[in-house]
Amino acid sequence: MLIRSSKRLKDSENLLFLKRLIKNPRSLGAIAPSSKALARFICRHIDYKEGDYVIEIGAGTGSFTRAILNSGVPASKLIVVELDKELAQYLRLHFPAIQVIHGNATILEALIPACVIGNVQTIVSGIPMVNIPKKVQKEIIDSCFRILGEEGGILQFTYGSVSPVSAESFGFFAQKLGRVLQNFPPATVWRYTLKPLVGGQLLKKKNDYMQRFLLKFQKSSRRVTK
Ligand SMILES: C[S@@+](CC[C@H](N)C(=O)[O-])C[C@H]1O[C@@H](n2cnc3c(N)ncnc32)[C@H](O)[C@@H]1O
Repeated sequence: MLIRSSKRLKDSENLLFLKRLIKNPRSLGAIAPSSKALARFICRHIDYKEGDYVIEIGAGTGSFTRAILNSGVPASKLIVVELDKELAQYLRLHFPAIQVIHGNATILEALIPACVIGNVQTIVSGIPMVNIPKKVQKEIIDSCFRILGEEGGILQFTYGSVSPVSAESFGFFAQKLGRVLQNFPPATVWRYTLKPLVGGQLLKKKNDYMQRFLLKFQKSSRRVTK
């Protein structure tokens, strides 16, 4: 019974995704919702501390939304921003306990409550950055960094192996977190931060010799990966 109703949910999710894809292929930017494996991989990299908020932008039919809630982020601390009106309505219906905002991620600070700004360590992005003009990419990234805490980061997935947004031209740091093969197509996950990251840790002690060496190495590999 449970299996049948979760299959029905999956079918209705896929059908809606397909309908919106036909209507707006560039904005959807994927042929199917992301897999559970990709969603779980992303959730493993969410930095959540009690009291913080997690923001998801470009939630689609909610594959990451469900995984974020399952990973332990309370529903009251998850805010989702979705550009497509019909998808936003679907998310409200299926995740009634979270705040779903129908809006554009280029203006996050105008959409989310003021008390949330600065209390976000992770933004999960499902937005298909490769399909978006550079100017809009920059507006989205800038808007994310305006609401993130000082050491916060954006988790972005893409189907290619290089970062879909140019870290160097936009002036942030990009770290490749890994590739998930159990997704169709396989996906790579990136973390973008304003501060340099070394081995997953933010670089705090600038006078640490080893960290400075690793940072130098990371900067050169970042140039290569773009
Ligand atoms: C590929 S779907 C991702 C859905 C889901 N996260 C997943 O991985 O299955 C991309 C979603 O990003 C949304 N989107 C595109 N541009 C956006 C923007 N500027 N602001 C908010 N959402 C946006 C689209 O409407 C679409 O639902």
